[in-house]
Amino acid sequence: MDIVYLNGHFVTRDKAMISPDDRGFVFGDSVYEVMRWYGGFFFDMDGHMNRLRRSLHETRIVWNDIDTFPDLAEELVNKNDLGSDCSLVYVQVTRGAAPRNHVFPDPALSPTVFASVRRQSVDTLLWERGIAIAVAPDPRWNRCDIKSTALLANIMSLQEAHDNGFMEVCFVRDGFITEGAHSNIFLVRNDIVYTHPESNFILSGITRKNVISLAAENGIGLAEERVAADIIPYIREAFITNTSGEVIPVIRIGDQILGDGTPGDITRKIHMLFREKVMAGDPVH
Ligand code: PDD
Repeated sequence: MDIVYLNGHFVTRDKAMISPDDRGFVFGDSVYEVMRWYGGFFFDMDGHMNRLRRSLHETRIVWNDIDTFPDLAEELVNKNDLGSDCSLVYVQVTRGAAPRNHVFPDPALSPTVFASVRRQSVDTLLWERGIAIAVAPDPRWNRCDIKSTALLANIMSLQEAHDNGFMEVCFVRDGFITEGAHSNIFLVRNDIVYTHPESNFILSGITRKNVISLAAENGIGLAEERVAADIIPYIREAFITNTSGEVIPVIRIGDQILGDGTPGDITRKIHMLFREKVMAGDPVH
């Protein structure tokens, strides 16, 4: 049975009712998080909670009970009998339901808080084979640092990439690579790993942050610097990171095959370190 959490209650998915006036539905006026449960613990729950707090703060959505979320998420996993499985927990917080008006309701409403979980193991085939990613102009707004559910620009770009046989899209803004539609991007040149610095043009990925720390702890050269898209022909290897896929090698960017067309050595090393960190358990909560 699929149990979800909605505004203080655990109910079956078919009993979860959200108002058509909900601002998340009407305006995409809401933020979200996706965290991975590794059959016993959440990976870097603190990182996800800090990012959720920041998204709420930046959008001025108030969820007073946010500190209850780690317990609630674990309860949700257990209620769905997924305690010993790999799964993804999704949580969405909207500004609440009110007659349609662009201006924030005053006084503020209680937010709508929804969470669900689904079994999803990591895709090891992608790790072995790697993926091809398309190159496309970054059509998004300039607050990509907020994890907003308003993802139309992301999903339209990703769909176009999918239609052309790519698994992700490499966004380019003002000539520089920013990130993917649902992942951060890392590029390797002359044995140095480059990734876009934290800014309003990318989402500060939790996997990204952990990869950066692992590189520092293990003597792998990594620079948080922008990479120009016209450097792509000189890139030897690349990878993307996100909560659902961890570290996924990229073997082709647009028409450009990277190296010998197989996952690169630095990518493999970083992913092995990430796997070790996961296996060691991260019982943040
Ligand atoms: N997306 N950049 C964007 C635009 C993303 O949507 C995501 C994650 C990331 C990677 O962040 P993290 O490592 O914290 O998952 C970067 C999630 C997986 C999603 O929307 O489902």
